[in-house]
Amino acid sequence: MAHEALVQALPKVELHVHIEGTLEPELKFKLAQRNGIKLPFSSEQEVKDSYTFNDLASFLDAYYDGMNVLLASEDFYDLAMAYYRKAASQGLRYAEIFFDPQAHTCRGVSFHTVISGLRRAQLEAEQTLGVFSQFIMCFLRDFQPEYAMATLLESLPYKQWIVGVGLDSDETDHEPAKFAAVFARARREGYQLTMHCDVDIKDSIEHIRQVIEDIQVQRVDHGTNVVENPALVKYLVEHRIGLTSCPISNLWISESDKVELVKQLVADGVLVTINSDDPAYFGGYIGDNFQRVADHDGVDEDFLRALVANAIEISWAPLAVKQRLREELAAV
Ligand code: HPA
Ligand code: ZN
Repeated sequence: MAHEALVQALPKVELHVHIEGTLEPELKFKLAQRNGIKLPFSSEQEVKDSYTFNDLASFLDAYYDGMNVLLASEDFYDLAMAYYRKAASQGLRYAEIFFDPQAHTCRGVSFHTVISGLRRAQLEAEQTLGVFSQFIMCFLRDFQPEYAMATLLESLPYKQWIVGVGLDSDETDHEPAKFAAVFARARREGYQLTMHCDVDIKDSIEHIRQVIEDIQVQRVDHGTNVVENPALVKYLVEHRIGLTSCPISNLWISESDKVELVKQLVADGVLVTINSDDPAYFGGYIGDNFQRVADHDGVDEDFLRALVANAIEISWAPLAVKQRLREELAAV
């Protein structure tokens, strides 16, 4: 493996990870047992073998199905602690973590249950692992915008615990414009804005255009199809809008890891970052994703450092945290 020592040593900054996508089969079984839920699998291997997805929709089926074991605040705490420990072992220093409140409130699990468990883990990870993190609340784009707006209002008492809002789930035929009013209100409430533009989706370029020109998000999650439109690439560079690319996720959802596009976009001056997306489903945490990049021909150590520098730059970390991360990167 190429540049292995550097990959391990880099202070990782993760900006695109769904906490529900970090649910490993082992914890799934433990929570199912604790909550008296019968799983249609007899072993962890059987769960892994069931992951046969080859596009976004088939992945999402498994992803939402897995969440049924998450019921109590303690379940969300255990889920997040497992992520922090695993990612910290791969050099995670700072994370902005997505959560999908509607995937739980639609099952009768309260917003408070979800966020209180996540928050407890966040504080513990800071104290015991030295990993600082913030939460991004995602709306599900295949639900109605009215439900997203209601969720936004429900989040307001917890505003100090949420740095921004995002948009995820099934993108096909669910354009960003559908959520323009929700995101305008989120901006007025002081939230930072990002949205998924998944890889190789129908109408991808028009979705990317809406997200950056109309909604005016600060970041785009995935978004690498932008290479097909030089004017939009120029817009990203001029407005310093970053992309959060997820190589191992891309392998499952499309036909390649898109690292060659990442190289091209970085050369064009776009602030691209490397992330894990749903590591328990795609089989790769943040360090594994960096290693995947490092193993590509023509990738050198300066490039790997630049990817971390980009993440620090486009993160929503407080200035003091950004400065500390820059110093950690310089010291490697
Ligand atoms: N795209 C859309 N929805 C998602 C993703 C993703 O990468 N991960 C979890 N939900
Ligand atoms: Zn994602």
